[in-house]
Amino acid sequence: MSFRSLKKKTVMLICALMLSLAGCGREPAATGNGNAADETMVLGFAQLGAESSWRTCNTESVIKAAQEAGINLMFEEAEQKQENQIKAIRSFIAYQVDVIAFAPIVKTGWDNVLSEAKAAGIPVILTDRTIDTDDESLYTCYIGSDFITEGLMAGDFLKKKFPQDNKTVNIVELFGTVGAAPALGRSEGFREAIKDDSRFHIICSQSGDFMRSKGKEAMTGILKYYDDIDVLYSHNDSMTLGAIEAMEEAGISPGEDIVIITIDGEQEAVDALKAGEINCVVECDPMLGPTIMDTAKKIKEGEQVPRNIYSKDNIYTEWDDLNEIPPRGY
Ligand code: AHR
Repeated sequence: MSFRSLKKKTVMLICALMLSLAGCGREPAATGNGNAADETMVLGFAQLGAESSWRTCNTESVIKAAQEAGINLMFEEAEQKQENQIKAIRSFIAYQVDVIAFAPIVKTGWDNVLSEAKAAGIPVILTDRTIDTDDESLYTCYIGSDFITEGLMAGDFLKKKFPQDNKTVNIVELFGTVGAAPALGRSEGFREAIKDDSRFHIICSQSGDFMRSKGKEAMTGILKYYDDIDVLYSHNDSMTLGAIEAMEEAGISPGEDIVIITIDGEQEAVDALKAGEINCVVECDPMLGPTIMDTAKKIKEGEQVPRNIYSKDNIYTEWDDLNEIPPRGY
């Protein structure tokens, strides 16, 4: 066994021991199958939090795929705090993991820590969310959805839902986490799709931080202020489901009084689409684990990988045969 792999195993055992002694809710460090001990690759994964069912499914997908691929996974969950994600990445650098993957909570503020990973010779995969940086060499690739395309799909549905007449369409936007790639991309794509039609007015855009409770809170306030809302465009299902609760409490019929467009494709949202409470669901695939493991292995072997590996996201609308939609698994 080489000194490097002995060191790696030692720190992982210490890490696992510390986590179990602390009794904290984080995943234990090593989840690999233990085969080919010296060769087993170590992947450090810094998840951003557990804000939605989408995120829970994304985490499960990563953990399961690591087990299946025989990869030792060091998993940290940052509880929605960028500083925790940075700390986790620094710990992966100290442990000399083979590859680091992380879902950046916001787009900016990563250059320093990613420069440290680069200096340590550890490749980085961005998963689920992208970053803004002037130095493109700080990460190897991105795996996840194209958020601008998701916003465009949402806007295209809206244009079909309101065929030409002269009536103004008042839209409320529930924005995801401020500064996060999916929120910015979904907002940009949606605006791009509707920009040439002067009937569409975004009368209010408020963050619900991608969380159900905050979506409900935001919508409750918005409904007190506006009585002329035609459309809710929500950046994720969790906020949408909270907003639906707020509408029902206010005596508003979701999907009828207010047209609802949402993104993710959680089972609960698809069920609401079938029940007529949501009009359009744009899918965002959370099951990125297998692609992450496959790509990490290729990178470790020195293979070239595509710079952007996009998921294929579908759209489900009130006009489709909804019995065709497979069980979501999240
Ligand atoms: O980054 C993906 C988004 O993050 C999902 O739409 C959302 O549910 C999650 O919080």
